Amino acid sequence: MRLDILTLFPNMMNMFFQESILARAQKKGLVEVHFHDLHDYSLTKYGSVDDYPYGGKAGMLMAVEPLVNCIEGLQKERHYDEVIYTAPDGEMLNQGMSNELSLKENLMILCGHYKGIDERVREHFITKEISIGDYVLTGGELATAVIADSVIRLVPGVIGDEQSALSDSFQDGLVAPPEYTRPPEFRGWKVPDILLSGNHAKIEQWRYEQALERTKERRPELYKKYQSQK
Ligand code: ADE
Repeated sequence: MRLDILTLFPNMMNMFFQESILARAQKKGLVEVHFHDLHDYSLTKYGSVDDYPYGGKAGMLMAVEPLVNCIEGLQKERHYDEVIYTAPDGEMLNQGMSNELSLKENLMILCGHYKGIDERVREHFITKEISIGDYVLTGGELATAVIADSVIRLVPGVIGDEQSALSDSFQDGLVAPPEYTRPPEFRGWKVPDILLSGNHAKIEQWRYEQALERTKERRPELYKKYQSQK
């Protein structure tokens, strides 16, 4: 997968991709991440990238020209499966969306800033708008890091043990069951006997029941959806 990230703050973004699984994915050659500083695409000699909105509203907008220069320049080089814009009024990110995006070849993500971008860019270039929650961030960089993290870990081969991504919370519509590691007893707190039994069928059944129970308790709306789709 190739990921092109268009941002006003490439340095802020960079650090997320230099550690842990995201760094390993790149070292293994499974994912390529490229940052594009939108200041470099400005038409003005001062490198300005924002402008006042028509109609006298407070705040600034990201201007059309630098965005279009950058997007079209990249699109001349390759086809993009999606041109994503991070925005609080976008479609809410969920595991299903991350699964779908993880199978794509080329993705572009535009990090929003200020009061947003000129609507014409949304209309004519953006193919998918994603929100990471009902709250407003200063900019799209954190949202992009969240999207990229949830997508890249699902790219085939990135996580060594394939099962580990498949058993994540939400993969099957339920949250994950509780997990334990050694020692079997700590301060009198015991690991459930079933996990030490060696009976894999029974362990799987227990995990499923725990996941159901947890989902019902913690995420009733997910539980309802799960029950209705069964
Ligand atoms: N930009 C600002 N707030 C955002 C949010 N909640 N999700 C995605 N992008 C954003």
